[in-house]
Amino acid sequence: RVAGPSVFVLFGATGDLAQKKLLPAIYDLTNRGLLPPGFGLVGFARREWSHEGFAEQAKEAVRAHARTSFQEDVWQQLSEGIRFVSGELTDDEAFDELARTVRELDESRGTGGNYAFYLSLPPKLFSTVTRQLKRSGLAESREGAWRRLVIEKPFGHDLESARELNAVVDDVFPPHSVFRIDHYLGKETVQNIMALRFANTLFEPLWNRNYVDHVQITMAEDIGVGGRAGYYDGIGAARDVIQNHLLQLLALVAMEEPVSFAPDAIRAEKEKVLSAVTLPPDLATGTARGQYAGGWQGGVRVSSYLEEEGIPPDSTTETYAAMKLGVNSRRWAGVPFYLRTGKRLGRRVTEVALVFQRAPHQVFSQNAVEELGQNALVLRIQPDEGVTLRFGSKVPGSAMEVRDVTMDFAYGHSFTESSPEAYERLILDVLIGDPPLFPRQEEVELSWKILDPVEEFWAKGSAPEQYGAGTWGPPSAHALLNRDGRQWRRP
Ligand code: BG6
Repeated sequence: RVAGPSVFVLFGATGDLAQKKLLPAIYDLTNRGLLPPGFGLVGFARREWSHEGFAEQAKEAVRAHARTSFQEDVWQQLSEGIRFVSGELTDDEAFDELARTVRELDESRGTGGNYAFYLSLPPKLFSTVTRQLKRSGLAESREGAWRRLVIEKPFGHDLESARELNAVVDDVFPPHSVFRIDHYLGKETVQNIMALRFANTLFEPLWNRNYVDHVQITMAEDIGVGGRAGYYDGIGAARDVIQNHLLQLLALVAMEEPVSFAPDAIRAEKEKVLSAVTLPPDLATGTARGQYAGGWQGGVRVSSYLEEEGIPPDSTTETYAAMKLGVNSRRWAGVPFYLRTGKRLGRRVTEVALVFQRAPHQVFSQNAVEELGQNALVLRIQPDEGVTLRFGSKVPGSAMEVRDVTMDFAYGHSFTESSPEAYERLILDVLIGDPPLFPRQEEVELSWKILDPVEEFWAKGSAPEQYGAGTWGPPSAHALLNRDGRQWRRP
């Protein structure tokens, strides 16, 4: 799988995501021989840089964040095709200049008239750019060439805005040329959920309400909002990652086997699950939200959310969110799916844990099974990628005692192949035109339908509860599970 010639236009080229992920991923793809010499990269941003200035900046970003080693000749090949256009997104002239630059690059590099537009921008700017692409003629493809639009999440901030935005996008780009990024789907360990479930016989018979007691999906981060205040405040944890990453994980765990691996077959199964998701009847006890207070993390004093640069001192944006969802289907009826995410938590970890019911009858004495928990299958998404199976085993010795043990699969031990970074995989898929890892508009809308009532409920309520940096979230999040006689796992 190698991409053909094309021009990649990057909006928000000076932003955090572009510097830390996108530019390094483009370099890594070039270094691995997956991008052809006929590749051009055009950055667009407000800053006044020359082509060389931008290339220099990109080089620094690559040196700091690329996964493969820096090779001067590879950089040379890439940098000869780098251009920069400075301007406001509302400025017609800047877009005319962009169109000239792209066409000139197209001719000089032989990129075949294929253009990808990557919108690494806050969602409120998507429609402005889409309209400008139409007005400047950039969106119009010539015979035999393609145009693709790549949009970063979150797609809108609720169902209504997602629909409005889609109407604008749909007017300019046909559905098959719109690629909505959810970078979690680019992760190896996330794609492995389907391999684990559908390539094996071992797990699937247990993968239902007859054996599974509940499911916990955790995405914990130790970092705070850092320099992303402008994006994050007013959006919050649920819109930032539950609406997309965590609901996508839920969909992959809960969906039925697709009839084939054709993109639409997989997406149809995910949509079926998302439309069967239910909210708890009482949102006050079935959801929790929090905001980090200051505290100590790894021996360092860190500030509270409200003290972060660019955050209004009275902000009520949540940095932690948890909720209990259900899936109305024969497979999952009555099985709670607990989702949680937060910044400044105990450590960085994303995992999906299927916690199994206890044995229906225990022949061992109560003393013998004191240290036996519930069996669990844990899909370790990151950073320690792998799968853990937890079950009870007899403790060596003359007495009959059963204690929890684990069986581990670790990527590092089982494979010599390295995992591509999620963005590498996704950018390559965009350039090849391979859609399965990109959610359709239907999925986006279904996810907002799940989240909207929760956001509305929270908006009417009081400020989020504070939790100390370096802890595992606010007391209400623990109460949410304790009420059901359960506990969050301590990853
Ligand atoms: C992004 C969120 O989608 O995912 C960020 O906007 C978050 O807030 C990031 O930090 C985490 O990504 P990863 O791949 O490090 O889990």
